Amino acid sequence: MEPTEVDLSVPFGALTLPNPLTTASGCAGYGRELAKFVPLDELGSVTTKTIMPYPRSGRATPRMAETPSGMLNGIGLQGSGVAAFVEQELPWLAERGARVLVSIAGERLEEFVEVAERLNGQPGVIGLELNISCPNVADRGLVFACNPATSYDVVRATREATDSGLPVYAKLSPDVTSITEIAAACVEAGADGLSMVNTTLGMVIDLDTGRPGLAGGTGGLSGPAIRPLAVRCVYQVHAAMAAGRIPPVPILGMGGIRTGRDALEFAMAGASGVAVGTTLFHDPAAPLRILDELRGELAARGFAKYTDAVGYAHRPQHD
Ligand SMILES: Cc1cc2nc3c(=O)[nH]c(=O)nc-3n(C[C@H](O)[C@H](O)[C@H](O)COP(=O)(O)O)c2cc1C
Repeated sequence: MEPTEVDLSVPFGALTLPNPLTTASGCAGYGRELAKFVPLDELGSVTTKTIMPYPRSGRATPRMAETPSGMLNGIGLQGSGVAAFVEQELPWLAERGARVLVSIAGERLEEFVEVAERLNGQPGVIGLELNISCPNVADRGLVFACNPATSYDVVRATREATDSGLPVYAKLSPDVTSITEIAAACVEAGADGLSMVNTTLGMVIDLDTGRPGLAGGTGGLSGPAIRPLAVRCVYQVHAAMAAGRIPPVPILGMGGIRTGRDALEFAMAGASGVAVGTTLFHDPAAPLRILDELRGELAARGFAKYTDAVGYAHRPQHD
C-alpha cells in the first residue's frame, strides 16, 4: 500500500476531522505563531492555550528549565481571558478554517461553567477540553483531576452548561495512583472524551544558587521523558474501556510525540487522536512531518486507515 492511500480521517463528535493530529494546549498559543509554519486547516484541529474567565499573568520567572529529554515549565495559565479570546482570537482562527478545540479552566467549578457558556455557539469551536490537571497552581488542592469526586463535579457542571452537540474532553493528570478511577469518574459525569496526559510534577535545583530553579519551585515535566508514562495511561484507560469497566469514549493521547512512530504508538495503545506539544518549540513545522511519517508507518504495516490501528496493542495474544 502507498502512504498516500492511507485514510487518516477520524470521527470527532458529529464531525469527521481530516486527520487525528492536534496541538497540545499551551504549546501553540492561540495559533498565530504556528500559522507561519503550518496552515492551520491542515491539522485535524488546533487546541488553544487554556482559557480562563479573566486575564492572568501566570507565575513569576524563571518558569522554564531544560531537563534530560524534556522540559519543565511553570507558566501557570497565563492568558488574556475568555472575552479577549472570543473577540480577537476566535474570529482569526475561524477565518483560517481552523477546527478549534478550546482548552478551558477555572479556579472554581463556577468559572469553568462561565467560560463554557461564553463559548457556546462560537464559530470554529468543535469542542472543549477541560484542563482539570494543570500542575502549575500554587494550591495543589486546585488540581481537580487528582480526585474522582472533584473531577466528576467539574465535568458534570461544564457538560450541562455546554451546547449538547459540542464534545467535552477532560484532560487528566498522570500524577494519580489510579488513572482509570479518575477516567471513570469523568466519563460517568458526561465527558465525551479524555485527553491524556498533562505534564507531570517535577523539579530542578540550580546548583549555583542552591535553590529550586523555577520561581514557583515545582513545574510540569513534558517531552520525550514522559512518553512511556503517557502511553501507559492511555493503554490502561483503553483496557478498562475494552473490559467494560468504563463506557468507551475517544482518547486524545499526548506526551513527548516527536515522530510518526510516536503517534502510532499512542494509536496502538488506544488513542483516537494525538497531540503534539513540546516538540513545537524546537520544530514548529513538525505537525505536517509527523502526519507524513504516520501515513508511512501505517502503510508499512498494512493499515488502510488510522482508525484500524486504534487500540491494536489490545488484541488478544492468539490473534
Ligand atoms: C510550555 C507549556 C505550556 C503548557 N500549557 C498548558 C495549558 O495551558 N493547558 C494544558 O492543558 N496543558 C498545558 N501544557 C501541557 C501540554 O498540553 C501537554 O499535555 C504536555 O506538555 C505533554 O505533551 P508534550 O510532551 O508533547 O508536550 C503545557 C505544556 C508546556 C510544555
